[in-house]
Amino acid sequence: MRQRIDVGGSHGYPLFLGVPLEELGSYLENRYGAKGHYLVITNPIIADLYSEKLMEGLKNFRTDLITVPDSEEEKSLDRISKLTEQALRCRADRDTMVLALGGGVIGDLAGFFASIFVRGIRYIHIPTTLLAQIDSSIGGKVAVNHPSGKNLLGSFYPPQAVWTDYSTLTTLPWEEIQNGLAETIKHALVADSMLFEFIEDHTADILNRDPKIMKELAMRSMAVKVKIVTEDEKEKGNRILLNLGHSFGHALETDAKYKGVSHGQGVSIGLVAIANLAFERNLLSEKQLVRIVDLLEKLGLPTYITDSDPQSLLQHMLVDKKNKAGNKILILPVGIGKSSIATDCEDEEIVRAWKKIMK
Ligand code: NAD
Ligand code: GLY
Repeated sequence: MRQRIDVGGSHGYPLFLGVPLEELGSYLENRYGAKGHYLVITNPIIADLYSEKLMEGLKNFRTDLITVPDSEEEKSLDRISKLTEQALRCRADRDTMVLALGGGVIGDLAGFFASIFVRGIRYIHIPTTLLAQIDSSIGGKVAVNHPSGKNLLGSFYPPQAVWTDYSTLTTLPWEEIQNGLAETIKHALVADSMLFEFIEDHTADILNRDPKIMKELAMRSMAVKVKIVTEDEKEKGNRILLNLGHSFGHALETDAKYKGVSHGQGVSIGLVAIANLAFERNLLSEKQLVRIVDLLEKLGLPTYITDSDPQSLLQHMLVDKKNKAGNKILILPVGIGKSSIATDCEDEEIVRAWKKIMK
C-alpha cells in the first residue's frame, strides 16, 4: 500500500512510502516539469541492482549516474571533492537535482554534496536500506566523517522528498537489516515503550523477515523520527534524544577508522554502554537493563567490546558535535520509552561503562 507522510520544519517535504523506483520519473515530471538534469549518486552494488529500474523512469530527462565505492570511509571530504569534478564533467549546475540512491552512507554523502555544490542544489533521497528508510533519510541531516570524528562536517539540509520503495529491502543482507534494527530499538527506547514491546513480542517474525511485521516495525519506527524532527528540525531541543547510544557508538566507529564497525553495530554496543551508565544512576532497573541487552542479543546485534581501550574511546567522545562549552552531553535512557539529557557525566563514569561491556 502506498502512503504519504509529511515531515514538517522550515522546509517541509513528503515521504512517499511503498512507491516503485520506476515511478519516480513521472512524479518528477508532474512536480518539476518535463525538463531537467538529474544526477544519480549511488554505489556499484546498488547500481547493479536498481539503477536500471530507476533510469527506466528517468529516460525523458538528461540523467547522469555517478558511483562511489561502497564504504563508510567514502563519507569524506576527499570524496566530495571527487564528486565535484565528476558533477562538473556532467555539466551539473544550479538546476541539477541529486538523486541519492542507497543506504545512509550514500544519503549522507550525496545530501552533503547537494548542500554545498554551487552553494546548494536540490536532492531527493531514495533509501534502499532499512536504516536509511526508517532513520537517515528523514530529518535532513547530511554529513561526512573526519578522522577526528564521525559526521563532524555537515549541515541540516532537507531533501525535496523521500522516495521509499520497500521492495529494495528484499536484496538487503541480514546483517544490514540488523543495523536498521539497532536504530528501531533506539527509537523505541527514546520515545515509544509500545514499540519496544512490539519488537520483543515479534523477534521470531523479525528474524524470519516477515514482510507484514517488518512493514509495521518500519512504520512505527519512522513515526517516532518524523514526530521528533518535525518538532525540532535543527536539534535545539528534543531531537538530541535521537542520539541515544551514539556518543559511545561513534567513538567505536572513529576508533576503527570507519571500517570494521558498522554504524548499527556501534549503536547497538553504544545502547548497552549507556544503559549500564543509566543503571548505575538508578535511571534504569536491572530488569530493564537485562531486557535491553536480551532484545539486542536475540536479534543478533553485538552487545560488548573485546579489544578496545576505554581511555582512547573516551578521547574520541571528547570530540562530539553535541558537546557544549567543554561539557560532554550524553543521552540517557530513563526506563524504557523515555530518555533525558545529561551534561554532568564524569570521565570515570564513562570509562566504567566501557569497562562494564568489555569481555
Ligand atoms: P550503508 O549505506 O553502508 O549500506 C549498507 C550496505 O548495504 C552497503 O554495503 C550497501 O552497498 C548495501 N546496500 C544498500 N542497499 C542495498 C540493497 N537494497 N540491497 C543490497 N545491498 C544494499 O549503511 P546504512 O546502515 O544504510 O547507513 C549507515 C550510515 O547512515 C552511517 O554513515 C550513519 O552515520 C548514517 N546515518 C545518518 C543518519 C542521519 O540522520 N543522516 C541517521 C542514522 C545513520
Ligand atoms: N540520527 C539522529 C538524528 O537524525 O537526529
